[in-house]
Amino acid sequence: MSFIVIINNLLFLSLSVGAVCVLYTQGVGNREWREYGRTEVIDNTLNPDFVTKFILDYFFEERQNLRFDLRLERPLTNEDGTFTICHKTEVVKNTLDPVWQAFKIPVRALCNGDYDREIKIEVYDWDRDGGHDYIGEFSTSYRELSKGQSQFSVYEVLNPRKKKKKKKYQNSGTVSLRFMSSHVTNPLFLLLFFFSRTQINFTVAIDFTASNGNPSQPTSLHYLSPYQQNAYSMALRAVGEIIQDYDSDKMFPALGFGAKLPPDGRVSHEFALNGNPDNPYCSGIEGVMEAYYQSLKSVRLYGPTYFSPVINHVARYASLVKDGSEYFILLIISDGVISDMAQTKESIVNASALPMSIIIVGVGPAEFDEMIELDGDEIRISSRGRFAERDIVQFVPFRDYIDRRGNHILSMARLAKDVLAEIPDQFLQYMRTRGIKPQCPPQSYSSKLPAAPLQTQI
Ligand SMILES: *[C@@H]1O[C@H](CO)[C@@H](O)[C@H](O)[C@H]1NC(C)=O
Ligand SMILES: *[C@@H]1O[C@H](CO)[C@@H](O)[C@H](O)[C@H]1NC(C)=O
Repeated sequence: MSFIVIINNLLFLSLSVGAVCVLYTQGVGNREWREYGRTEVIDNTLNPDFVTKFILDYFFEERQNLRFDLRLERPLTNEDGTFTICHKTEVVKNTLDPVWQAFKIPVRALCNGDYDREIKIEVYDWDRDGGHDYIGEFSTSYRELSKGQSQFSVYEVLNPRKKKKKKKYQNSGTVSLRFMSSHVTNPLFLLLFFFSRTQINFTVAIDFTASNGNPSQPTSLHYLSPYQQNAYSMALRAVGEIIQDYDSDKMFPALGFGAKLPPDGRVSHEFALNGNPDNPYCSGIEGVMEAYYQSLKSVRLYGPTYFSPVINHVARYASLVKDGSEYFILLIISDGVISDMAQTKESIVNASALPMSIIIVGVGPAEFDEMIELDGDEIRISSRGRFAERDIVQFVPFRDYIDRRGNHILSMARLAKDVLAEIPDQFLQYMRTRGIKPQCPPQSYSSKLPAAPLQTQI
């Protein structure tokens, strides 16, 4: 069976060219070449695979010369309302339930930026002689495809001729299509589409040191007020909402550090926000927020500000799963000065060999020099002569994303982009150096995968 996506109109940028094959036959008497027919135009490929079939009469005992001219055509600049083929899948043989490989196609080639343009998909039963049998077709549009991002949509394949003939005819089968637009999604989302077996473990860690100010005071970054969000809750909610889309079960382990805990007042640098060290999971970002407010009421802000215990905490779990089935992202929200810089650097150097990334969100007005240094964009982090295997830290100063009065986020899209900016590379570097391959690569699709039929990324 094979499967063809056909799209209304010829559409190219002025640089692109289309290939067309023209068939000429030679007259018996005058030996003149006459055009017999031409194939459809296939654009932007050096290996066009034409679908058009030519049917010629065969004259016994007569020499019939044929000439095939392969031409590159200048693109038509005006669109003429006909369909042109923009993708043809491979043939899947010997099955009534074919699974086609995922393929990528530029939006420009698919619909020329017109989201409502009809995209026609025709399904054929492959025949050795090239006369593939038409099974049926269905139509969709870019807009319709994008509604079901990364989920399967089922389309009925209809054969209009059969529909006319038989009253009882319902359809000629169905096609499930999975669509993914790299246009509107983050590269991390795309990566997780291919590394479909990898679970993301997001752990949140919040700074409970006294430098943040007394929670009863409005100037405190931890100000406890029923009427407004404080700097931490704003950052937590904003960044949490971004990252929770990447976490499959939306259960987040949440930790606090730098506080004196009840009942004995011992200082802890890695305590469970929900008070349950055996099960630090909170349900969704709302659950993390709730546990954060509970903790604020029960613990005493103290110090100093140690990052390395929470980094090591997550690293301990990350060191247990090195087969690519889990990737850990630790989100640390803190106000500035780090007291255990040397330890923290060593922890980061240690963690750089693990499936792990760290996002540090700085809140408040401090300088954040140390966090910038940990970010390691300019100078790769090292500790006692040992360099981090890869950069695993991303630092984001939250104040750059809120208005002057600190009450509103100026752009969630920009924040999301910056928070996640380095994660895809960090993730890929780990997978690559450990030889872990995507489970669902775009070109070598394996039918054993649970994710069923056609996958299309656009
Ligand atoms: C995710 O990480 C946390 C530590 O930050 C750990 O408590 C939890 O068990 C991990 N979950 C899984 C499924 O590995
Ligand atoms: C880093 O790893 C080494 C070797 O496993 C260990 O001895 C050291 O304590 C770790 N450093 C930190 C700060 O955890």
